[in-house]
Amino acid sequence: MSLQYRTTGKLSARIELHRYGTNPTPWHDWVRDHLPSGRRVLEVGAGTGALWPYQPDFQLVPTDSSAAMCTALRDKGFAAARCSADALPFPTGSFDGAVACHMLYHVDDPARGIAELRRVLRPGGWLVASTNGDGHMAQLWEIAARAGLPMSFPEAMNLSFRAENAVELLAAQFDDVELVRYEDELVVPTAEPVVAYLASCVDRDLTDEELSALRAEVTGDVRVSKHAVLLTARSRPGNGS
Ligand SMILES: C[S@@+](CC[C@H](N)C(=O)[O-])C[C@H]1O[C@@H](n2cnc3c(N)ncnc32)[C@H](O)[C@@H]1O
Repeated sequence: MSLQYRTTGKLSARIELHRYGTNPTPWHDWVRDHLPSGRRVLEVGAGTGALWPYQPDFQLVPTDSSAAMCTALRDKGFAAARCSADALPFPTGSFDGAVACHMLYHVDDPARGIAELRRVLRPGGWLVASTNGDGHMAQLWEIAARAGLPMSFPEAMNLSFRAENAVELLAAQFDDVELVRYEDELVVPTAEPVVAYLASCVDRDLTDEELSALRAEVTGDVRVSKHAVLLTARSRPGNGS
């Protein structure tokens, strides 16, 4: 794994910037509003558990491939399992639903991750996944380019599972695939959250010179457009084969 998820700090810095969103319903609340019901729900790549400010009233099984994320999840009271989304240590057909938020593009072969999610869902079970699309946070990548930052985080690059190909990738293995866009724009009144976000996209600490060059590029209100989408799908009867 890259340095990105060896600790929770870089992910937390990025989640923090989304507080400046102008949509009155924050992203994680909006995602939860879209989850169908289920008694036993798997979450892959659950990260710091930002989707869950409280314990849900169903059995949630959060997982992540990063030891640091699993520790953060356990500190929040979840029985987290450390595993990769493309090799799940769960029996076929053992979940009613599965959540994969902003993580399928990290799996080496997203189609294999999707197949594994399909395997562990019962027939008719649901999958909710999210990702980004063209133009997402473009203003930030422009700032990073002007400051000459050596970006290493894939969200700044072409994602393997993105808004533009996610429906096709899911429809190859799931039924009733639907995509809905989360309308939002960030308006950030101070420089530091933007600096922290962009610094988090580099797989090492920035040098003092790099930080100065970055700060010089962040002046006044920063308006950032977003292109985040949520996908819902139903597991086909006869799955797990
Ligand atoms: C962008 S974060 C998203 C975290 C969380 N889902 C959220 O929306 O806040 C991606 C997460 O996927 C995890 N991850 C990366 N590759 C993975 C894999 N192959 N299997 C499971 N988790 C993975 C990372 O450790 C990280 O916690």
